[in-house]
Amino acid sequence: MKYYESHEDGYRRIKENNLSSWDEFCEQSGTFENFYMKEYLVTVLDRIQPVSNAKVLDIGCGTGPVSCFLAQQGYNVDGFDISRTAIEIARTKAEDLGLDIHYSVDDICHISITGSDIYDIVIDTHCMHCITYDSDRHAALTNIFRLLKKGGYFIVETMSIEDPSLWPLNGRIDKQGIVWREVNEDYPYEKVRFEDKYWICTRRIMSPSDLEDELIQAGLLIEHSEIHEDEESEHMTDFRAICRKPMGD
Ligand SMILES: C[S@@+](CC[C@H](N)C(=O)[O-])C[C@H]1O[C@@H](n2cnc3c(N)ncnc32)[C@H](O)[C@@H]1O
Repeated sequence: MKYYESHEDGYRRIKENNLSSWDEFCEQSGTFENFYMKEYLVTVLDRIQPVSNAKVLDIGCGTGPVSCFLAQQGYNVDGFDISRTAIEIARTKAEDLGLDIHYSVDDICHISITGSDIYDIVIDTHCMHCITYDSDRHAALTNIFRLLKKGGYFIVETMSIEDPSLWPLNGRIDKQGIVWREVNEDYPYEKVRFEDKYWICTRRIMSPSDLEDELIQAGLLIEHSEIHEDEESEHMTDFRAICRKPMGD
């Protein structure tokens, strides 16, 4: 099983403990209704003024806080996540709220949605930093680019750090910004052996300029980007960007 599938274990605990979202699980101040990215998302929507029935794709949607918020604004929302349990909870939540959202289990690196030029907006709230290896990130961004309509927006908020050596949280970070967590030999997800121990990669924390370069390499135009300081962790920031697929062919 791929390293990023380990989120499933977190969502099983979310379900067992009757929690509603990843934000709540991580004990951040976020809730399902007041999710971490909400304030920023409101300002982005105000800025880009999407058409009222815009087709939106929420990648790594988890239990669906962002999808539900966008559906409540009248947008036509699809959401997917690698975790089956997350999608099970997301479907129940949407049903309870009377929202018509199309959810599926899928992998942004090997997505099953075929075709191109489908979505007015693709949104990432903290999924891309779970994709660590260059080859996987390249595949994910290629898929995002393909699925966007010409002139469509990729809105991203992702963890970032200027200098990986200053990583303040758990785990061990390497020069590329990949965060490694030690696991047991029988850990069921993709792991690597190093210094006679087993490790799983959990995050890719890049500098804002490297993130910008990666988006440009993927063919996207960056209309706006900003850095949001993390109030709880020194040196950590969120990189936020509004990107566009060029209008030309
Ligand atoms: C930090 S959580 C954020 C979840 C959600 N966006 C939210 O705001 O509550 C990151 C999410 O990305 C999902 N994820 C990680 N790798 C993925 C992949 N390759 N394809 C799809 N989803 C993935 C995880 O299962 C998890 O739900």
